[in-house]
Amino acid sequence: MITKDMTLADVVKAHPNTIGFLNGLHLDYCCGGHEAISIAIREKGMDVEKFLAELNEVAARPTAAKDVHADIESFKDLKVTEMLDDLEATHHVTDRRLMAETEDLLNKILIVHYPHHGEMLTRLHHLYAGLKAELEEHFAKEEQLVFPLMRQHPHPDKETLDLVQQLEDEHTGAGDVIKEIQQLTNNFTPPEDACPTFRHTYATMEALFDDIFIHIFKENSIAFPEYAEQQ
Ligand SMILES: [Fe+2]
Ligand SMILES: [Fe+2]
Repeated sequence: MITKDMTLADVVKAHPNTIGFLNGLHLDYCCGGHEAISIAIREKGMDVEKFLAELNEVAARPTAAKDVHADIESFKDLKVTEMLDDLEATHHVTDRRLMAETEDLLNKILIVHYPHHGEMLTRLHHLYAGLKAELEEHFAKEEQLVFPLMRQHPHPDKETLDLVQQLEDEHTGAGDVIKEIQQLTNNFTPPEDACPTFRHTYATMEALFDDIFIHIFKENSIAFPEYAEQQ
């Protein structure tokens, strides 16, 4: 039973099949604050009781998001070092591929649709370029600095824990830019005159962000806390 005192991260940890429902409402379960549902939902101007009733119904229902459910359940069973290997082999690879695809597509629609949507697309292109740079640097830092230190120090020392905290702060920063992009694109709703490439760009970007949310959730709410507990 999900209660109003739980955070959305707690909910996803216990019921990964709620991710689709939360994404649909653009609720942050991974990168933002870890506030109780009662606070987070009220801040969004939504009815807490109604939300909880729907969320409990979704959590109890076997859904099409079964793959994500199984993925998170099996991730939780790994040892910390196996979690780090898994993150590098899955989300880091997928997100780099989707980032490159999105970048190409965005550049194409920026040129073709400049006459009618130049202002919005310039802003989107700019925000995305900044986010992509930050994420590439963040992935490099994880792979080359922080994850190797975590493997070397299975019982965390202060220096490593401080670096893990930096990673979490960077997740929050990325989440903020993604929220700005969601607003700017009206949650990836293409304009009426959008061509198939425009629609494909938004769909690719949305798939990228959905994967990034799961990626960050696994780090912030499963791998990093599990590591910190090994003291
Ligand atoms: Fe990562
Ligand atoms: Fe990360």
